[in-house]
Amino acid sequence: MNRPLNIEKWRAFFLRNRKNRPEPRWDAPRRQDWPGQSLLEQSIREFQLGDGGGPASLIAWNRECYRNSQAGLVEVIDLWFEEEKEHSRLLGGLLRRYEREPISGHWSFSLFCGIRQVMGVSFELQVLTLTELSSTAYYRLLRQHGQDPALREVCDLILRDEAGHLAFQNDRLAAKGLPGRGWRRWLWQRQFVVCGWIAATVLWASHGRCLRAMGATTRGFYREATRQFYRFLLRLDHRAARTRAVTAGATEAPPTSTAVRATGHPAP
Ligand SMILES: [Fe+2]
Ligand SMILES: [Fe+2]
Repeated sequence: MNRPLNIEKWRAFFLRNRKNRPEPRWDAPRRQDWPGQSLLEQSIREFQLGDGGGPASLIAWNRECYRNSQAGLVEVIDLWFEEEKEHSRLLGGLLRRYEREPISGHWSFSLFCGIRQVMGVSFELQVLTLTELSSTAYYRLLRQHGQDPALREVCDLILRDEAGHLAFQNDRLAAKGLPGRGWRRWLWQRQFVVCGWIAATVLWASHGRCLRAMGATTRGFYREATRQFYRFLLRLDHRAARTRAVTAGATEAPPTSTAVRATGHPAP
């Protein structure tokens, strides 16, 4: 079952999300003597490259199939990636604050881009969704354990955006008819979670030392990442059920939810 994505809703959402974005306090005092600081700086350098610092667009060999699949979709995708670029800018602000240079390459980033390019646009969108879910776990732990006020404010802004991105991905998948029904649904959900754990493991391989130095644990990270995966799937189930009800003739819910209207972005 396929239905068109509500382009106008998401266009309005991304434009609205540009407002009320207080700039982090780049010159706020911070502890200089923290022993894990160099690990944190290296972690931020890699995220600054991976979170919007590379190609800010879909890069799969067949990306145009998806981009041109619906009128207005190109603009919405561009608005989404503009927010990713903004994440890179915010993380770059932290690097300037820590007096560190950005990096232009890393093995995990090359792997990330290589998979996106060769596996086709559907898989690329899944990789991006799982990266957003795993990154949400990373930023939440960074926010929880970080002692630097500017770092916490950067995390707040990025987490706010990622909540919106995940709602967008959820709506996109529901419009596509996923997760399906019966055994297809079961199979799709299992592959989603397994791929999610792989994405989380790649993230942890690069950033686990930093998060552990800050006080987080491996168990805590995987618990948070898994919570994100299952919450996403639960929401997708609800959204898909709503879509089926609409298709069956029920009245469609208004395109902008109460949560979106009230906060400017979907509730996380
Ligand atoms: Fe991001
Ligand atoms: Fe994102």
